[in-house]
Amino acid sequence: MAILFYCPWDNSDQWLAALRSALPEDDFRVWPDVGDPEEIDFAMVWKIPPGVLAGFPNLLAIASLGAGVDALVDDPDLPRNVPVTRLVDPLMADRMAEYVCATVLHHHLGLDNYGLQQSRKHWQRHPTTDARDRTVALLGLGQMGQRCAQRLAALGFNLLGWSRSAREIAGIRCSHGLEALKDVLRQAEIAVLLLPLTERTVNLMDQATFSAMPEGGYLINCSRGECVVEDDLLAALDSGHLAGATLDAFRDEPLAAHSPLWRHPKVRITPHIASLSAAGTAAPILADQVRRARGGQPVADRVDIDNGY
Ligand code: GLV
Repeated sequence: MAILFYCPWDNSDQWLAALRSALPEDDFRVWPDVGDPEEIDFAMVWKIPPGVLAGFPNLLAIASLGAGVDALVDDPDLPRNVPVTRLVDPLMADRMAEYVCATVLHHHLGLDNYGLQQSRKHWQRHPTTDARDRTVALLGLGQMGQRCAQRLAALGFNLLGWSRSAREIAGIRCSHGLEALKDVLRQAEIAVLLLPLTERTVNLMDQATFSAMPEGGYLINCSRGECVVEDDLLAALDSGHLAGATLDAFRDEPLAAHSPLWRHPKVRITPHIASLSAAGTAAPILADQVRRARGGQPVADRVDIDNGY
């Protein structure tokens, strides 16, 4: 039996080396150089072109090399009877929490404004807000959202959480369902998107949801670009309703040179780095999935294809 591997990232050699050392007996086939498709019993992939996975009749499971599975779920030819798993790596949740804490604190402390003042050699103090008086809403309370909640709670922020289905998490007031969203956003001085991309979250942040946020609200998108209507975000920033946004995910990546987001004075951009997956910690997790699938046990962190995540 053999493992299909497809990873379009710059460090795919490093991934392959880590996986080979976690599964030393295994034969890895790198798409498109796969040999006999019938020999492939497990797939480890990231954004493999749609339709390719349908060509392997003996797959026991398909594992995403990242946390998001939208590209897999969107494949119209995905073999529906084969379990799909997302990568759930505590290191990735830690990385996400670092990014979210850094960006929340940056905005909370007004550091963009002090940066501007520095460029003008201007010394002026502004009133401060204590963390307990700053409300941060986390939209999406999966593994990443929960880790962000723990870390932001430790910093003392007033936390709200919103998710599709009900959750109870210490230190955070949780609501769920679409009807509760606007009420959460009305209180959200900072809204952090940590949602999977599904048909329910596509275009979730639009003119109506931005206007529900308080004047001076701030958006942090660590989810997918498709969750935000870009023109509506720009309009909310230009009208002064939103104070700014930090964006780590975009509809088209890399972000095109002509995008108005690049030069917008209220937008900070990072190139989808909030929670990179790491070969060193992912390899043993993926190796365990292979052993489970081959041993006839259910794989961990199975995706519900109908729910989209
Ligand atoms: C990154 O966006 C991931 O889904 O892991």
